[in-house]
Amino acid sequence: MTKKLDGKVALITGAARGQGRSHAVRLAREGADIIAVDIARQIDTVPFDMATPEDLEETARLVKATGRRIVSSRTDVRDGAALTEAVAAGVAELGRLDIAVANAGIFGFGALDTMSEQQFRDMIDVNLIGMWHTLQAAVPAIRAGGRGGSIVMCSSTAGLKGMAGFGHYVTAKHGVVGLMRTAAIELAPESIRVNTIHPSAVDTPMIQNAPTYALFAPDLPPEERTREAIAPRYQTLNKLPIPWVEPLDVSNAVAWLVSDEARYVTGTELKIDAGEEL
Ligand SMILES: NC(=O)c1ccc[n+]([C@@H]2O[C@H](COP(=O)([O-])OP(=O)(O)OC[C@H]3O[C@@H](n4cnc5c(N)ncnc54)[C@H](O)[C@@H]3O)[C@@H](O)[C@H]2O)c1
Repeated sequence: MTKKLDGKVALITGAARGQGRSHAVRLAREGADIIAVDIARQIDTVPFDMATPEDLEETARLVKATGRRIVSSRTDVRDGAALTEAVAAGVAELGRLDIAVANAGIFGFGALDTMSEQQFRDMIDVNLIGMWHTLQAAVPAIRAGGRGGSIVMCSSTAGLKGMAGFGHYVTAKHGVVGLMRTAAIELAPESIRVNTIHPSAVDTPMIQNAPTYALFAPDLPPEERTREAIAPRYQTLNKLPIPWVEPLDVSNAVAWLVSDEARYVTGTELKIDAGEEL
């Protein structure tokens, strides 16, 4: 049976775990070969554990289990030259590039008037400049194919409204929308589509960690801040009666956006948010 992405190659940043891993496996199941990049080490201003090299290896194993190929590397999206090199190496091995999913991101918290300069800069560097680097690394390779392509940038519901307690994240995620809207115009003549996705809370290590639980349930004593206790707090954000969406829900949206079924969809802010934004 022909699959939606047969013969295509997709770049995915932040692919070691969470949504990035889920996108890699989902797109591979649709027939795409994968170029996976992840920093796979800690950034000091991130208050929870980031992915490891073992996580990235596990993504590679899962993609290979679908029968597709994967070229993975430990690459920091803050380093534009390194990312361009990683993409070029992937394209050299897999033959082409059609899709880029700019997914790598970090989270953290603090009030805007008191957070450190380093915290704010790291956030903008990863969550905004990293997305621009991904575009810069991917577009020449997509363009070289002359077949058009699709770029998806991961924003958030925090890219559509103000939210207290993590203003650097909100700022970066709004910036991604500006990046997307402009790139969608600039690249449209070459049939390269650019869209953003806006999930509400997603069940990944980014939200399932003690420091983030403390943000959502400061009133609970630390020992009571469990996944079960925190779920109703997250649920208050959504209209649908669920605490969070699953990575696969976001991957399903990505798989559609990058496929020919969405061939005339560009410049769209696609919410996968359980009604949070209503
Ligand atoms: N989890 C949520 O609730 C949620 C909601 C909306 C949007 N998002 C966004 O979704 C995307 C994926 O996050 P997730 O939920 O899978 O979290 P996650 O922490 O599980 O995964 C993020 C991945 O990005 C990688 N990464 C971070 N900085 C990097 C860098 N400089 N270079 C390369 N890789 C880097 C991490 O190592 C990790 O593997 C992020 O952009 C995040 O902001 C998350």
